[in-house]
Amino acid sequence: MKILLNLAVLALGLNVSLAMAAGTPAFDAAAANQIANKNACFGCHQVARQVVGPSFQQIAAKYQGDAAAPAKMALKIKLGGSGVWGVIPMPAHPTLSDAELKLLSTWVLAGAPK
Ligand code: HEC
Repeated sequence: MKILLNLAVLALGLNVSLAMAAGTPAFDAAAANQIANKNACFGCHQVARQVVGPSFQQIAAKYQGDAAAPAKMALKIKLGGSGVWGVIPMPAHPTLSDAELKLLSTWVLAGAPK
C-alpha cells in the first residue's frame, strides 16, 4: 500500500514537472483574473463553489473534451442567456473585446486558475 502511494506521489510529481518543462502556459491566467475582476464575474461565479451561477470548475468539467466549447463559452459570455444550468440568466457583456472573450473562455474551461 505504502509503495503504491509512493508511486502515485512520484507520478504526480513527474506530471507537474513535465507540465512545467512544457514551459509557457497557453494563456495568461493573471490577465484573465484581472478581466474577470473588472467585469464582476466573481459576483456570480466562484472557482470551486456554485453561488448565483455555476462554479468555474463545474463549467470546465461539463465541457471537458468538447471542441466547440471555447467558441460557445465566448459567445455566451458576450450575449448572456439562461437554460443551461437553470433559470437564472447570465447577463450579456457586450463591451468585452473578442480577445478578452477568447481569453475568459479559455481560462474558465481550464477551471479558472489564479
Ligand atoms: C449576474 C450574475 C452573473 C454574472 C455577473 C456573470 N455570470 Fe456567468 N453565469 C451566470 C448564470 C446564472 C449562468 C448559468 C446560465 C445558464 O443556465 O444558461 C452563467 C453561466 C456562465 C457560463 C457557462 C455558460 C454555459 O452555457 O454553460 C460561463 C462560461 C460564464 N457564466 C462565464 C462568466 C464570465 C466570464 C463572467 C464575467 C465576464 C460572468 N459569467 C458573469 C451568472 C452570471
